[in-house]
Amino acid sequence: MPTFNLKINNKKHTVDTDADTPLLWVLRDEINLVGTKYGCGIGQCGACTIHVDGSAMRSCLLQVSQAEGKNITTIEGLSEEGDHPVQKAWLEHDVPQCGYCQSGQIMNAAAFLKENPNPTDEDIETAMDGNICRCGTYTRIKKAIKTASKL
Ligand code: FES
Ligand code: FES
Repeated sequence: MPTFNLKINNKKHTVDTDADTPLLWVLRDEINLVGTKYGCGIGQCGACTIHVDGSAMRSCLLQVSQAEGKNITTIEGLSEEGDHPVQKAWLEHDVPQCGYCQSGQIMNAAAFLKENPNPTDEDIETAMDGNICRCGTYTRIKKAIKTASKL
């Protein structure tokens, strides 16, 4: 089995696995970073969103071989103390319900705000459109992103 060297949350990890293993599997099953969730496995829900070189990507669609040499960030590495502006705003608005989709929502929102620090409501809706929440927390998500943009 081939070996892959990965940089995840600023730490080096070595994994032996098939080249086409989705990074999501590696994160959860090999490295025990289980904050990134498996929802659909086909790029449709956003639960598995991480950052790859700072951009939001779906880890279920990324093969481990494509992740080598990249800076991977998961929800566990977004901030050292859990105090990223998006996380603070999430707390302020008490966004999560069951919580399952929320790490993906936060990672998508954080990458989006880096690109667009002063978004309109429409920008937020467009950016967050692909992140599904079965509990319907969309209104609080939108408010929290607005708040985070001011922090
Ligand atoms: S699990 Fe990756 S998009 Fe749904
Ligand atoms: S908080 Fe339950 S799926 Fe989003």
